Amino acid sequence: MSAKILDGKAVAQTIRSALGPGIAAVRQARGAPPKLAIVTCSADASAGAYLKAKLKAAAETGLAAQAYPCSDGPASLLRRLGEDPSVDGIILEQPLPKAWDAADIFGAIPPAKDVEGVNPLSYGRFFLAKTAAEIAGCGAFPPCTVAAVIALFDETGSHAAGKEAVVVGRSEILGRPAAHYLSALDATVTLCHSKTADLAGHVRRADILVAALGRADFIKGAWIKPGAVVLDAGMNRRAGAWVGDVEYAVAAERAAYITPVPGGVGPVTTAVVLANTVYAAKRRL
Ligand SMILES: NC(=O)c1ccc[n+]([C@@H]2O[C@H](COP(=O)([O-])OP(=O)(O)OC[C@H]3O[C@@H](n4cnc5c(N)ncnc54)[C@H](OP(=O)(O)O)[C@@H]3O)[C@@H](O)[C@H]2O)c1
Repeated sequence: MSAKILDGKAVAQTIRSALGPGIAAVRQARGAPPKLAIVTCSADASAGAYLKAKLKAAAETGLAAQAYPCSDGPASLLRRLGEDPSVDGIILEQPLPKAWDAADIFGAIPPAKDVEGVNPLSYGRFFLAKTAAEIAGCGAFPPCTVAAVIALFDETGSHAAGKEAVVVGRSEILGRPAAHYLSALDATVTLCHSKTADLAGHVRRADILVAALGRADFIKGAWIKPGAVVLDAGMNRRAGAWVGDVEYAVAAERAAYITPVPGGVGPVTTAVVLANTVYAAKRRL
């Protein structure tokens, strides 16, 4: 079998193309397009790449976007942006320094502008929603990389209900909420992490695999169940190139669908951030 490629660039383009009327409505109402503020405190290679991709995508889509570098604790800057009437969406690039209290800092982003769903209040609303319909109506945006993973899964046209879903990685922004979302879609979910015994055994059972551990080619292609949907969120820098968490070439011979890296989850995540910003701007009008 040779997998169908889930083309993140094409999915992102579809999401971004649908934003035109919303952007025009905001521009007409207040004389300026929706604005995304990107606060960045990290010199990490992947954070820099995400920042550039978001600024470029925002400009191409017709949103205003501005980067706000910050070397110190960003809570006061986030509060200021929260009160700035020209700003509709705020994101704080991750990873943050480990010593910082992430919940405290993310709590400084007002929920109405929390387009990545990282404020503990947004996060709590998302986790209290038990079904996909409840997630859609919970009043908070799901973490945007998770929304991107689900949008790519939707492209397969298959249903998660009753399927075995395995998520590798349990971070607050990615693995854990991805597991919750798949559970809300009625998949039977296993959440793996660095202490999981027999990771290969779990992956071999997965009808739906979400790779979110951040280690290049760690999940071997030979572990992939024939016919699986492989959603690789990993972004790892190796020899000057971006590589996913899944050994792509071998996995693509076994899976039914697979996301490439780059060009899979990444561009859709960016498109989701822009879509959430336009939605937040319309909600504020
Ligand atoms: N495409 C996008 O838009 C996007 C957005 C965000 C992140 N990412 C990428 O996604 C990846 C994960 O990011 P993150 O922020 O979630 O990372 P993270 O916070 O570092 O979390 C990594 C997770 O992977 C688990 N893990 C590490 N080594 C493992 C192993 N050998 N076996 C099983 N699990 C293991 C860790 O387990 P423990 O909990 O036990 O430590 C942890 O839960 C990174 O490559 C990142 O760049 C992509």
